[in-house]
Amino acid sequence: MVNIAVLGVGYWGPNTVRNLRSIDFCNLKYVCDLNEARLEFIRSAFPEQNVTNNYKELLNDKELDAVCIVTPVTSHEKLGLEFLNAGKHVFIEKPLTFKVSEAENLVAKAKEKNLVLCTGHIFQFSPAVQKAKELIESGFIGKINYVTASRMNQGAGKYEVDVSWDLATHDLSIINYLMEKVPNRVSAFGKNHTVDLNDTVTIRMDYRDNAYATIEVSWLSPFKFRLMRIFGSKGTLVYDEMAENKLVHYGLGIDDRDKGRGAGNLTYKEGEKNIVELPKGEPLKNELINFLQAINGTAKPVADGVSGLNVVKILSACAESMKNDGKWISIS
Ligand SMILES: NC(=O)c1ccc[n+]([C@@H]2O[C@H](COP(=O)([O-])OP(=O)(O)OC[C@H]3O[C@@H](n4cnc5c(N)ncnc54)[C@H](O)[C@@H]3O)[C@@H](O)[C@H]2O)c1
Repeated sequence: MVNIAVLGVGYWGPNTVRNLRSIDFCNLKYVCDLNEARLEFIRSAFPEQNVTNNYKELLNDKELDAVCIVTPVTSHEKLGLEFLNAGKHVFIEKPLTFKVSEAENLVAKAKEKNLVLCTGHIFQFSPAVQKAKELIESGFIGKINYVTASRMNQGAGKYEVDVSWDLATHDLSIINYLMEKVPNRVSAFGKNHTVDLNDTVTIRMDYRDNAYATIEVSWLSPFKFRLMRIFGSKGTLVYDEMAENKLVHYGLGIDDRDKGRGAGNLTYKEGEKNIVELPKGEPLKNELINFLQAINGTAKPVADGVSGLNVVKILSACAESMKNDGKWISIS
């Protein structure tokens, strides 16, 4: 049984609370928020839930094993370090931080203290992404040559950073996970139309082995769009988080393409299309179970601190590129 707390129950934290309460091998010992109104919201939903507005209480509780930090990103490093220093395992919502140095500090501290540090890369736990990972690892679509992703929705208007930090975080975490590597250089171009931030961003990522990826994110779309296409040397996966059939596999159709060319008689033929069956499961619950199992030593963390750091490195490089009209920036 893992004794755990949730710190921050604004917009997203109540989802973490609901899911942790449904997992039978953890005890949600505290829900903490500085804002009384948010604690009242939790009390009204779960009258017996222990709540507090003082996070030092959590730091000083020797029986508390872990904390989920669901506070604004600018507070992640400070709070994360305090809890790691107090000997607690830490889960931090995405993005891990806004600065590479802060993410590095968290990763180094977790290592020094031998504690689990996980990042809230929720889509790595989507059943469709988990299945895509399994298919890619089995060699089913061959070598990944090209990935292209689009993620758009209406902006909520309360942001302090470009849309890339809000939305591309998800695509980057998925692409890094599926490709098991980070690009060697990135370039990004941003435009602002509605707020004094880039509300529309295009990212290009170049890999040493000739693989290539693009991501387009925007707050201008009136509807939610979450689409990724993964083109391999033997086939293609189309992942649409908004569709009923979230993962579709297309065979290559390459023989026909070659025949057409040779004969001077170009015909287009789609590769055979197959809907991939997926297990059921809520990504956030899967993600929290993985964090708890990593604490118990029964699973490896899927979205660990290093994966959080890698995403922050790419997003920081994108920010630098956008300031320099899309210049390519190396990722170290
Ligand atoms: N995984 C996802 O899909 C997803 C979706 C939305 C938000 N998020 C992430 O969740 C995090 C929180 O975002 P949000 O939109 O819920 O923010 P929010 O501003 O709505 O809520 C944050 C809450 O944290 C509380 N807080 C701040 N400092 C605190 C402290 N020291 N102790 C206790 N409480 C404290 C605030 O009072 C507030 O209620 C961010 O990292 C965000 O990027 C993730």
